[in-house]
Amino acid sequence: MIQRDSLAQDLRARLRIPVMAGPMFIASTADLVIAQCKAGIIGSMPALNPRSTADLDRDIARISSTVGDTPYAINLVAHPSNSRLEADLEIVLKYKVPIVVLALAANPDLVARLQANGSLVFQDVAKNRHARKCAEMGVDGIIAVGSGAGGHTGGISPFALMAEIREWWDGLLLLAGAISTGRSVLAAECLGADLAYVGSPFLASSEANTQDAFKQMIVDCAADDVVVTDCFTGVPAMFLRPSLLAHGLDPSNLRRAEGKRVNIDGGGDNAKAWKEIWSAGQGIGAVRISGPAGDYIDWLAGDYAAARKAMGRN
Ligand SMILES: Cc1cc2nc3c(=O)[nH]c(=O)nc-3n(C[C@H](O)[C@H](O)[C@H](O)COP(=O)(O)O)c2cc1C
Repeated sequence: MIQRDSLAQDLRARLRIPVMAGPMFIASTADLVIAQCKAGIIGSMPALNPRSTADLDRDIARISSTVGDTPYAINLVAHPSNSRLEADLEIVLKYKVPIVVLALAANPDLVARLQANGSLVFQDVAKNRHARKCAEMGVDGIIAVGSGAGGHTGGISPFALMAEIREWWDGLLLLAGAISTGRSVLAAECLGADLAYVGSPFLASSEANTQDAFKQMIVDCAADDVVVTDCFTGVPAMFLRPSLLAHGLDPSNLRRAEGKRVNIDGGGDNAKAWKEIWSAGQGIGAVRISGPAGDYIDWLAGDYAAARKAMGRN
């Protein structure tokens, strides 16, 4: 059981480097979570990625029996449009999943129910006022999503966001957004983060459920190839320019179709986004090859050690 009163130290003691993987719609798989945990970081995936609640049950059984002491996380979309929420929640409770990342419309009852069952609850935020709401709900960890992050991105510089949140929050704080090198993990710590939260680099992993062409696009692209738009989901999200062009869309002239439903989870109207029109954050310039997630984490750990040494920290 992870200790709540010394949470940051307890989590870090179980990890090789202070990094948690961000869950990614469609892309994160049980194999990816296992590879991330085995390589010494917190692995994660959305509960909705397995096709059914029965598949989620099988996946979590496999993950929890494989990863030992390294914590893993499951992401639950706590929104009325998620018809699987109650059933998936039962599975998360059954396995006492160590960390649950809540997205959207989470409520204090859900947080309390998960915590009473032994899970830690994290929630991601893009603004200081959202962080305060999370703190009021009693979450164990706040994930600050700064500008440059993949998926539904943040619009605020990590320098500003971390300074605002750290002014009043002394609990567990993670930073997300274009973190893909060991040097940037160390920089996140300098800004006050206990852990860095890394998503996009894992899109190129062999264990990710991403097409070969998507993996190659992550290797080939850099920050300048990433476009932010609210035209697919109604909120700002990052998409790869070559992927937009491949679908006949003009990246400099994206507009939400008249009357289009705002849809956050990738279903319905915007099924094409995420699945066919690919998302990634600005940090992908550091991803040079596609291969096992463990190889990338080995490289990240080496780069982190070198950065610490260069900064005079051993
Ligand atoms: C393709 C893609 C899908 C994502 N899907 C989800 C998701 O389903 N749930 C979630 O909480 N975050 C999701 N995210 C956000 C990540 O968990 C994480 O916050 C983000 O990737 C961090 O920024 P980075 O990509 O620059 O490392 C997604 C990100 C990407 C790139």
